[in-house]
Amino acid sequence: MNDFTYYAPTEFVFGRGATDRVGAVLAQRGYARVLLVYGQGSAVRTGTLDRVKASLDAAGIAHEDLAGVRPNPEVNQVRAGIASAVAFGADCILAVGGGSAIDCAKAVAFGVPYEGDVWDFFSKRTSIEACLPVACVLTIPAAGSEGSNSCVISNDELDAKVGVNSDLFRPAVAVMDPELTFTLPAYQTAAGATDMIAHICERYFSGVGAVPVTDNIACGLIRAIMEAAERVHADPRDYDARANLMWAGTLAHNDLAGCGRSLSPAGRAGGWESHALEHAMSALDPQVTHGAGLAVVLPAWMRFVWREDPQRFLSFAADVFGIEAAGADDASVAAAVEAGIDALQDFFARQGMPATMDELGFAPADVDRLAETVAAAKGSVFGAFKKLGPDDVKAIYRSAFAQ
Ligand code: NZQ
Ligand code: ZN
Repeated sequence: MNDFTYYAPTEFVFGRGATDRVGAVLAQRGYARVLLVYGQGSAVRTGTLDRVKASLDAAGIAHEDLAGVRPNPEVNQVRAGIASAVAFGADCILAVGGGSAIDCAKAVAFGVPYEGDVWDFFSKRTSIEACLPVACVLTIPAAGSEGSNSCVISNDELDAKVGVNSDLFRPAVAVMDPELTFTLPAYQTAAGATDMIAHICERYFSGVGAVPVTDNIACGLIRAIMEAAERVHADPRDYDARANLMWAGTLAHNDLAGCGRSLSPAGRAGGWESHALEHAMSALDPQVTHGAGLAVVLPAWMRFVWREDPQRFLSFAADVFGIEAAGADDASVAAAVEAGIDALQDFFARQGMPATMDELGFAPADVDRLAETVAAAKGSVFGAFKKLGPDDVKAIYRSAFAQ
């Protein structure tokens, strides 16, 4: 087990009716002027926004809106949010939504105290040194941004989608009310479950050998996510399944599933290879849902890299799916590893996720552009489980087209 720092400062307020407590929780922390950041309509349609505003009003907290944040949020919306937050004198940025609203809120929060343009952080021209407090009312379990130190923003002008990491913008408060997720379209629920599993896999396949305590958490979480997602698929109003899925999404990405698995004590576990491949896809086409992109590239990446450490993939197949190799010979190992990856991809497909690049609207002619975008964000050679150069990246994409 490698050395690690685990920092999870978020106050999680979880359960039925938690939405109506957000004002009281924020007031207790002394916040008095809140910029509300939300998406393209669901928070309004479902009545969640009204409930949040009523709760803020009851607690005497003033609020201003930043509406219309799109999925795969764009830097221009962040810039508009920074201007609003400054004009309003916000002392807290409160997202109502999922990863997109929360990431936009995070970027506004560290953009406010910075004199220059917020994209400087994403182009790595400068680093984050100050940040307003961030809070959220989570409406979709998926990205795990409610407990993570990540913020991912697109720049359409540059065809870029880039993440930054800092503990300064881990949310101070995350209100998690599973009943809010009853209204999620099945596709978004499935994409969310896929994203959670990918967050765990990025850490599980970090290139560090077995860490039993963390590996058991990781594989147990994946099994719990699959079970809950299957139950939600059958009954979208199954509270218990929704609640399990919601909490699993947080634990999948608040670093619990990576303790002891990173190469440097304060570093992140894993090379985040599948995420880099997917971010290039949703940068090129913002209509691509992050989790749906991962359903395609995660299995493709796995099939490309597993020979680097077959034992790790045998453990995954055994602990998640109960698949054992028939023997120690190469053919038996390959069969068990491939069966494990197939089982994961079958789960994604049963949930309605795509299996090929074609289904997401990409053509083989897009591969060079996607590889360039990956290289611009990650450098020309990157990866932890296996180093990937531009030709490897292209080969993974190509392998994910319908043959
Ligand atoms: O925009 P609205 O109308 O709110 O609709 C949203 C959106 O279309 C809808 N939705 C959300 N809650 C709903 C609902 N519809 C009905 N009922 C509800 N209760 O769902 C759609 C997706 O929302 P979004 O916030 O985009 O989803 P998600 O949480 O998957 O976030 C995706 C973004 O997070 C980034 C992704 O790259 C992507 O940009 N990620 C952020 C991470 C982080 N900060 O730690 C890590 C991830 O790996 C990921 O990269
Ligand atoms: Zn993700």
